[in-house]
Amino acid sequence: MKKTIVVYGSTTGTCQEFAEQIAQKLGVSDVMNVAEMNADTLTGYDNLVIGTSTWGAGELQDDWYDGVEALKSVDLSGKTIALFGCGDADGYSDTFCGGMAEIYKAVKESGAKVIGQVAADTYTYDDSEAVVDGKFVGLALDCSESEGKSENRIDDWLDSIRPEL
Ligand SMILES: Cc1cc2nc3c(=O)[nH]c(=O)nc-3n(C[C@H](O)[C@H](O)[C@H](O)COP(=O)(O)O)c2cc1C
Repeated sequence: MKKTIVVYGSTTGTCQEFAEQIAQKLGVSDVMNVAEMNADTLTGYDNLVIGTSTWGAGELQDDWYDGVEALKSVDLSGKTIALFGCGDADGYSDTFCGGMAEIYKAVKESGAKVIGQVAADTYTYDDSEAVVDGKFVGLALDCSESEGKSENRIDDWLDSIRPEL
């Protein structure tokens, strides 16, 4: 696997826990809160595994507003990006994991290869900006589901992206 970092934004710790789980399963030791990240951080990595929780109505986790500006300021061409997001499909069914869509929009034209889309029909929700052509732009994790179900989703997702990292 090429040089990989997991970066997350998390207000109450849920997305951080998912990020740590993902990093541990990938065997990656570089796990960073986006609040600590700057443009220079990103230049040293081939693979960016990027996660955000969703706040407001389908919006980014607060620390990602500066993070997105950092992402946009870096030449991402040649890098591989895998996105994950956590949200609550039960409580926020119309804007489920919308924060992930905001990061996707920031990187989709960057020249990076965005991997790890997940079929949307395995989730129960009403609407999400993070769905493009029937797929979530990355791994959506639903905190209204059981921990076991989320862990299965993480395992399946990592199996699908590992060969590309
Ligand atoms: C005020 C508020 C707004 C939220 N808005 C959304 C939303 O629009 N979509 C969604 O999927 N989840 C939404 N959530 C759920 C959070 O994304 C969820 O609790 C998540 O696990 C928080 O992760 P964090 O602690 O890592 O920030 C919201 C939660 C709160 C408290």
